[in-house]
Amino acid sequence: MTKTYAVIGDPIDHSLSPALYNPAFTFLGLDCVYIAYRIPKGELDYGIKDLKKIHIAGFNVTTPHKVDMMRLLDDADDECRLVGATNTVVNTDGYLKGYNTDVDGFLDPIRKRKIDCKGCDVLLIGAGGAARAIVAGFAKEKIHKITITNRTQERAEEIVNFARQLGLESDYLDLVRAGDMVKNFRFIVNATSVGLKGMGCPISTKNISKDSIVYDIVYMPVETPLIKQSKEQRATIIYGWEMLLAQAMKSFEIWTGKPAPYEAMKLTLLGRF
Ligand code: ATR
Repeated sequence: MTKTYAVIGDPIDHSLSPALYNPAFTFLGLDCVYIAYRIPKGELDYGIKDLKKIHIAGFNVTTPHKVDMMRLLDDADDECRLVGATNTVVNTDGYLKGYNTDVDGFLDPIRKRKIDCKGCDVLLIGAGGAARAIVAGFAKEKIHKITITNRTQERAEEIVNFARQLGLESDYLDLVRAGDMVKNFRFIVNATSVGLKGMGCPISTKNISKDSIVYDIVYMPVETPLIKQSKEQRATIIYGWEMLLAQAMKSFEIWTGKPAPYEAMKLTLLGRF
């Protein structure tokens, strides 16, 4: 019987996930199909009931459900529990187990470049579900300190507390001042949606230098304004598509038990841009 997988979220029409997974299933000759399924905010419970009815084999979770989905899980792996958000769910006869592949998916491009994060200072822009996974990732890498800046201060303070719970030094920085302070950080990571569709830059880039590593998790367009401007300042760049691909490969492996076909997935992904 064909196994059906999905990505749930809202908006979902821009999702690249079907284009990533379907060729991977085909490449390995697996009888599986992957669809995008819109579930608006506030309708998660109904949406999940429907997915169970059609015997969904597994699904990815994206904005705005990554945190809310936690209460509908029957089980969660350690990383998922730690982050308090899930992006990957396995359905075994109605029993839902959550995983979080964003943590290692985020770290993968850093590890591929053999960048040693130990003792680094990090500026993290954003305070949503993605920011939590990134904090958990940096905690694994034993960085020195993570400074959180965000449009809404309260949300940033929550992430500061979360980082401290994980044993990191952490503080809050006003978003307006962040651009002036970037010289103090080795890593500058954008975990907001600013830059999506080429609109806006989350901070001023005038002080970014060749010593900065700029990691933007926005992947549409490939060259966001933050990346474009940071490149002009000769910073090291890590692209959002690299994290997208790495976290998808990890979900694929959880679902199928097989190594994900990296080249096939990378080619289809880059072909879509
Ligand atoms: P995700 O789960 O993908 O992280 P989210 O929880 O909705 O999504 O978080 C989105 C992040 O982008 C937040 O940090 C949000 O800032 P607020 O906490 O102030 O809402 C940030 N963000 C979204 N639109 C923004 C904008 N126009 N300017 C600045 N920050 C923005």
